[in-house]
Amino acid sequence: MPEVRLLEKKCRRLFLVCDDSIKYMDSFNKHLEHLDGLGIEVFYFKDFQSNPLYESAVNGVKLYKNCACDSIMAVGGGSAIDVAKCIKLYSNLPGEGENGSWLKAGAVPNDIPFIAMPTTAGTGSEATRYAVLYYEDVKQSITSESFIPEAVFVDPNALKTLPLYQKKATMCDALCHSIESFWSVNSTEESKEYSRVAIRGVLENMEGYLANTDEGNAGMLHAAHIAGKAINISQTTAGHAMCYKITSLFHCAHGHAAMLCDRVLFPWMIENTDKCIDPRGAEFFSKTLEELSSAMGCGSAKEAADKLCDFFDSLELEVPYASEEQIEILKTSVNPVRLKNHPVALDINDIEILYRKILKAD
Ligand SMILES: [Fe+2]
Repeated sequence: MPEVRLLEKKCRRLFLVCDDSIKYMDSFNKHLEHLDGLGIEVFYFKDFQSNPLYESAVNGVKLYKNCACDSIMAVGGGSAIDVAKCIKLYSNLPGEGENGSWLKAGAVPNDIPFIAMPTTAGTGSEATRYAVLYYEDVKQSITSESFIPEAVFVDPNALKTLPLYQKKATMCDALCHSIESFWSVNSTEESKEYSRVAIRGVLENMEGYLANTDEGNAGMLHAAHIAGKAINISQTTAGHAMCYKITSLFHCAHGHAAMLCDRVLFPWMIENTDKCIDPRGAEFFSKTLEELSSAMGCGSAKEAADKLCDFFDSLELEVPYASEEQIEILKTSVNPVRLKNHPVALDINDIEILYRKILKAD
């Protein structure tokens, strides 16, 4: 892992935000020991959970300052990377971050060296200017150009010890990112090219990745990273807007919930091209669906939508059962800002119909 040499140049007191996956990273841990020999101190911060809280970032900033660190590295899944991004962003803001004050403060860019090492192939957080924290049970999306790490290290061995469910769900997340990015109203030629590469990467490496081959794991890590670059330009759409409440209501992983949504949204969009709200027009949108189909190796949009359903079915992931009460909660949970990125208009009735198809419901 020659990139680790960068740490020697940039850091004297490294703040390492990591989850439990770090204990399986043998070669990286050897490099950390090597840093120790060079007089570079490493301070570990592990005090956060998945779907990380704002308070965790506040605690991280406190420790970062107390330890007089000069650089930040994230090693882990999307939660570790998002917490590290926010520690970087908040570390030069005034005050203690009490009562959510840093969420409202304007960001002051800083040049703290920031490096990331994703240990799951899914979120692509290491490639985006976005981070998610939860404050008082409400999801907070934070955006900053300074979130993009100056270096990303990859080690496919990190994926070897992931539980199979997590591997499946993170792979679903990467595929959803590439597909949603492709049809987003913010898509560009550049983001579409990233999506094409990522879609191909997911589909071609799926078998090896699920069988835990080195090649499959490396290919999936690359695909997820490129999918992150795609959403960094275009952002995600209705699938992601609709999946967050599914995650919390049914305790399923983010990527699992996103794929539950996208496999239903895709055919629904094909049937509702007349409700297109992409400013580039309905013709452009229909052409986008055709291009997406060909990126998925299919001859028509219908075939591609079927392929996405088959992909989901082949993973044997659960489709949760939703009660009437849960459908009510879900249909009012969707963030309308995120829906604005979606190329087809969705009203509250559409959302209810879709949730009934996404989940098992009466
Ligand atoms: Fe996602």
